[in-house]
Amino acid sequence: MTFAATVLTLYPEMFPGPLGVSLAGRAREQGKWTLDAVQIRDFAIDKHRTVDDTPAGGGAGMVLRVDVLSAAVDHALANNPAAPVIAMTPRGKPLTQERVRELAEGPGVTILCGRFEGFDERIFAGRPVEEVSIGDIVLSGGECAALMLLDACIRLLPGVMGAPSSGSEESFENGLLEYPHYTRPVEWEGRTIPEVLRSGDHAKIAAWRKHQAEVDTRLRRPDLWERHTGARVQSASGARRENKDQGQ
Ligand code: ADE
Repeated sequence: MTFAATVLTLYPEMFPGPLGVSLAGRAREQGKWTLDAVQIRDFAIDKHRTVDDTPAGGGAGMVLRVDVLSAAVDHALANNPAAPVIAMTPRGKPLTQERVRELAEGPGVTILCGRFEGFDERIFAGRPVEEVSIGDIVLSGGECAALMLLDACIRLLPGVMGAPSSGSEESFENGLLEYPHYTRPVEWEGRTIPEVLRSGDHAKIAAWRKHQAEVDTRLRRPDLWERHTGARVQSASGARRENKDQGQ
Protein backbone atom coordinates (compact mmCIF):
# COMPACT_ATOMS: atom_id res chain seq x y z
CA MET A 1 0.00 0.00 0.00
CA THR A 2 1.29 3.44 -0.88
CA PHE A 3 1.13 6.10 1.85
CA ALA A 4 -0.54 9.14 0.26
CA ALA A 5 0.39 12.51 1.77
CA THR A 6 -1.55 15.63 0.82
CA VAL A 7 -0.34 18.96 2.17
CA LEU A 8 -2.63 21.99 2.06
CA THR A 9 -0.38 25.04 2.23
CA LEU A 10 0.17 28.60 1.02
CA TYR A 11 3.77 27.56 0.25
CA PRO A 12 3.69 24.33 -1.81
CA GLU A 13 7.24 25.10 -2.95
CA MET A 14 8.41 24.14 0.57
CA PHE A 15 7.63 20.48 -0.33
CA PRO A 16 9.13 17.92 -0.57
CA GLY A 17 12.07 20.05 0.70
CA PRO A 18 14.13 17.82 3.00
CA LEU A 19 11.83 14.88 2.22
CA GLY A 20 13.21 14.88 -1.33
CA VAL A 21 16.59 13.51 -0.22
CA SER A 22 18.02 10.54 1.70
CA LEU A 23 15.66 7.88 3.07
CA ALA A 24 12.39 9.71 2.34
CA GLY A 25 13.52 10.86 -1.11
CA ARG A 26 14.51 7.33 -2.12
CA ALA A 27 11.28 5.89 -0.71
CA ARG A 28 9.28 8.38 -2.77
CA GLU A 29 11.18 7.46 -5.93
CA GLN A 30 10.38 3.83 -5.15
CA GLY A 31 6.65 4.64 -4.89
CA LYS A 32 6.41 3.86 -1.15
CA TRP A 33 4.75 7.22 -0.55
CA THR A 34 3.28 9.98 -2.69
CA LEU A 35 3.10 13.71 -2.09
CA ASP A 36 0.52 16.20 -3.33
CA ALA A 37 1.31 19.75 -2.20
CA VAL A 38 -1.86 21.75 -2.80
CA GLN A 39 -2.05 25.57 -2.92
CA ILE A 40 -4.76 26.74 -0.49
CA ARG A 41 -5.07 29.98 -2.47
CA ASP A 42 -6.55 27.99 -5.37
CA PHE A 43 -9.69 27.62 -3.24
CA ALA A 44 -10.19 31.36 -2.70
CA ILE A 45 -13.54 32.61 -3.95
CA ASP A 46 -12.86 36.25 -4.84
CA LYS A 47 -10.95 37.72 -7.75
CA HIS A 48 -8.07 38.81 -5.48
CA ARG A 49 -7.67 35.19 -4.26
CA THR A 50 -7.94 36.29 -0.64
CA VAL A 51 -7.23 33.57 1.95
CA ASP A 52 -7.25 35.54 5.19
CA ASP A 53 -9.00 38.36 7.00
CA THR A 54 -8.70 40.40 10.20
CA PRO A 55 -9.59 38.68 13.48
CA ALA A 56 -13.14 39.09 14.75
CA GLY A 57 -12.97 41.10 17.97
CA GLY A 58 -9.80 42.87 16.86
CA GLY A 59 -6.17 42.18 17.59
CA ALA A 60 -2.95 41.56 15.70
CA GLY A 61 -2.43 39.43 12.61
CA MET A 62 -4.72 37.74 10.16
CA VAL A 63 -6.85 34.59 10.31
CA LEU A 64 -7.29 31.97 7.57
CA ARG A 65 -10.85 32.07 6.25
CA VAL A 66 -13.07 29.07 7.01
CA ASP A 67 -14.77 29.09 3.59
CA VAL A 68 -11.40 28.82 1.84
CA LEU A 69 -10.07 26.21 4.27
CA SER A 70 -13.19 24.04 4.01
CA ALA A 71 -13.01 24.04 0.21
CA ALA A 72 -9.36 22.92 0.39
CA VAL A 73 -10.16 20.21 2.97
CA ASP A 74 -13.15 18.99 0.91
CA HIS A 75 -10.90 18.69 -2.14
CA ALA A 76 -8.41 16.55 -0.15
CA LEU A 77 -11.20 14.42 1.37
CA ALA A 78 -12.67 13.76 -2.09
CA ASN A 79 -9.27 12.52 -3.32
CA ASN A 80 -8.38 10.42 -0.27
CA PRO A 81 -11.45 9.97 1.95
CA ALA A 82 -9.77 7.44 4.26
CA ALA A 83 -6.81 9.65 5.18
CA PRO A 84 -7.15 11.55 8.47
CA VAL A 85 -6.95 15.34 8.18
CA ILE A 86 -4.49 16.95 10.57
CA ALA A 87 -4.07 20.69 11.13
CA MET A 88 -0.66 21.74 12.41
CA THR A 89 -1.09 24.24 15.23
CA PRO A 90 0.60 24.98 18.57
CA ARG A 91 -2.93 24.71 20.06
CA GLY A 92 -3.12 21.03 19.07
CA LYS A 93 -2.57 17.78 20.93
CA PRO A 94 1.17 17.07 21.25
CA LEU A 95 2.36 14.61 18.61
CA THR A 96 3.54 11.25 19.98
CA GLN A 97 5.40 8.31 18.46
CA GLU A 98 2.26 6.25 19.09
CA ARG A 99 0.17 8.56 16.85
CA VAL A 100 2.94 8.55 14.24
CA ARG A 101 2.88 4.74 14.23
CA GLU A 102 -0.91 4.70 13.79
CA LEU A 103 -0.70 7.16 10.90
CA ALA A 104 2.12 5.22 9.21
CA GLU A 105 -0.03 2.07 9.28
CA GLY A 106 -2.90 3.87 7.54
CA PRO A 107 -3.59 4.99 3.96
CA GLY A 108 -1.87 8.35 4.35
CA VAL A 109 -2.55 11.77 5.80
CA THR A 110 -3.84 15.17 4.75
CA ILE A 111 -2.04 18.01 6.52
CA LEU A 112 -3.42 21.51 6.78
CA CYS A 113 -0.70 24.13 7.35
CA GLY A 114 -1.54 27.40 9.05
CA ARG A 115 0.12 30.78 8.66
CA PHE A 116 -0.52 34.16 10.27
CA GLU A 117 -2.52 33.96 13.51
CA GLY A 118 -4.02 30.59 12.55
CA PHE A 119 -7.30 29.06 11.44
CA ASP A 120 -10.87 30.26 11.86
CA GLU A 121 -11.92 27.94 14.71
CA ARG A 122 -15.14 26.89 12.94
CA ILE A 123 -13.16 24.61 10.60
CA PHE A 124 -12.64 22.19 13.52
CA ALA A 125 -16.37 21.95 14.22
CA GLY A 126 -17.42 21.80 10.58
CA ARG A 127 -14.91 19.26 9.25
CA PRO A 128 -13.19 16.16 10.74
CA VAL A 129 -9.88 17.92 11.40
CA GLU A 130 -7.53 16.84 14.20
CA GLU A 131 -5.33 19.57 15.72
CA VAL A 132 -1.72 18.50 16.31
CA SER A 133 1.29 20.32 17.75
CA ILE A 134 4.90 19.24 17.38
CA GLY A 135 5.91 20.88 20.66
CA ASP A 136 5.55 23.89 22.90
CA ILE A 137 7.22 26.24 20.45
CA VAL A 138 5.71 28.66 17.96
CA LEU A 139 6.77 28.27 14.33
CA SER A 140 6.09 30.84 11.63
CA GLY A 141 3.75 28.35 9.96
CA GLY A 142 2.70 24.71 9.91
CA GLU A 143 4.94 23.70 7.00
CA CYS A 144 8.03 22.76 9.06
CA ALA A 145 5.76 20.91 11.48
CA ALA A 146 4.18 19.03 8.55
CA LEU A 147 7.63 18.04 7.27
CA MET A 148 8.46 16.67 10.71
CA LEU A 149 5.24 14.69 10.93
CA LEU A 150 5.73 13.24 7.45
CA ASP A 151 9.38 12.39 8.10
CA ALA A 152 8.42 10.50 11.25
CA CYS A 153 5.74 8.53 9.35
CA ILE A 154 7.76 7.80 6.21
CA ARG A 155 10.71 6.21 8.01
CA LEU A 156 8.27 3.69 9.55
CA LEU A 157 6.75 2.61 6.21
CA PRO A 158 7.50 -1.01 5.26
CA GLY A 159 10.86 -1.36 3.53
CA VAL A 160 11.99 2.23 4.15
CA MET A 161 14.31 1.79 7.11
CA GLY A 162 17.47 -0.30 6.61
CA ALA A 163 17.71 -2.46 9.73
CA PRO A 164 14.23 -3.51 10.98
CA SER A 165 15.37 -3.62 14.65
CA SER A 166 16.44 0.03 14.62
CA GLY A 167 12.77 0.99 14.61
CA SER A 168 11.67 -0.97 17.65
CA GLU A 169 14.68 -0.33 19.91
CA GLU A 170 14.78 3.43 19.53
CA SER A 171 13.56 6.22 21.79
CA PHE A 172 9.85 6.20 22.77
CA GLU A 173 9.02 2.83 21.16
CA ASN A 174 9.02 1.21 24.63
CA GLY A 175 8.20 4.38 26.56
CA LEU A 176 11.87 5.08 27.34
CA LEU A 177 14.65 7.12 25.77
CA GLU A 178 17.08 4.98 23.81
CA TYR A 179 20.38 3.92 25.41
CA PRO A 180 23.53 5.87 24.38
CA HIS A 181 25.67 4.78 21.42
CA TYR A 182 29.43 4.65 20.84
CA THR A 183 31.69 3.74 17.93
CA ARG A 184 35.38 3.84 17.04
CA PRO A 185 37.81 5.25 18.00
CA VAL A 186 37.88 3.36 21.30
CA GLU A 187 39.66 6.32 22.89
CA TRP A 188 38.96 9.99 22.04
CA GLU A 189 40.55 12.88 23.94
CA GLY A 190 41.09 10.57 26.90
CA ARG A 191 37.51 9.30 26.95
CA THR A 192 36.87 5.62 26.33
CA ILE A 193 33.90 3.51 25.27
CA PRO A 194 32.30 1.78 28.30
CA GLU A 195 34.16 -1.50 28.93
CA VAL A 196 30.98 -3.63 28.86
CA LEU A 197 30.32 -2.70 25.22
CA ARG A 198 33.70 -4.21 24.29
CA SER A 199 33.17 -7.38 26.35
CA GLY A 200 31.34 -9.38 23.68
CA ASP A 201 28.95 -10.59 26.41
CA HIS A 202 25.56 -9.96 24.77
CA ALA A 203 23.49 -10.56 27.91
CA LYS A 204 25.61 -8.11 29.88
CA ILE A 205 25.44 -5.56 27.07
CA ALA A 206 21.64 -5.86 26.90
CA ALA A 207 21.37 -5.42 30.68
CA TRP A 208 23.68 -2.37 30.59
CA ARG A 209 21.67 -0.78 27.77
CA LYS A 210 18.39 -1.36 29.58
CA HIS A 211 19.81 0.18 32.75
CA GLN A 212 21.19 3.21 30.87
CA ALA A 213 17.86 3.75 29.10
CA GLU A 214 16.10 3.73 32.45
CA VAL A 215 18.59 6.05 34.19
CA ASP A 216 18.62 8.54 31.30
CA THR A 217 14.83 8.57 31.05
CA ARG A 218 14.45 9.12 34.80
CA LEU A 219 16.96 11.99 34.83
CA ARG A 220 16.13 13.67 31.51
CA ARG A 221 12.42 13.00 31.13
CA PRO A 222 10.73 12.51 34.51
CA ASP A 223 7.37 12.81 32.70
CA LEU A 224 8.13 9.76 30.51
CA TRP A 225 9.58 7.87 33.47
CA GLU A 226 6.48 8.41 35.56
CA ARG A 227 4.28 7.13 32.74
CA HIS A 228 6.58 4.14 32.17
CA THR A 229 6.66 3.05 35.80
CA GLY A 230 2.92 3.67 36.13
CA ALA A 231 2.24 1.54 33.04
CA ARG A 232 4.40 -1.30 34.44
CA VAL A 233 2.46 -1.36 37.71
CA GLN A 234 -0.76 -1.34 35.73
CA SER A 235 0.24 -4.24 33.50
CA ALA A 236 1.56 -6.30 36.42
CA SER A 237 -1.53 -5.90 38.60
CA GLY A 238 -4.15 -5.49 35.89
CA ALA A 239 -5.38 -2.26 37.47
CA ARG A 240 -3.98 1.27 37.66
CA ARG A 241 -2.60 2.16 41.10
CA GLU A 242 -1.58 5.57 42.36
CA ASN A 243 2.14 6.46 42.20
CA LYS A 244 2.45 6.56 45.97
CA ASP A 245 1.50 2.86 46.06
CA GLN A 246 4.25 1.85 43.68
CA GLY A 247 6.94 1.46 46.34
CA GLN A 248 9.68 3.41 44.51
N1 ADE B 1 2.53 25.95 13.75
C1 ADE B 1 3.15 26.89 14.48
N2 ADE B 1 3.68 26.37 15.58
C2 ADE B 1 3.39 25.03 15.55
C3 ADE B 1 3.64 23.94 16.43
N3 ADE B 1 4.31 24.09 17.57
N4 ADE B 1 3.18 22.73 16.09
C4 ADE B 1 2.48 22.56 14.96
N5 ADE B 1 2.20 23.55 14.10
C5 ADE B 1 2.65 24.77 14.39
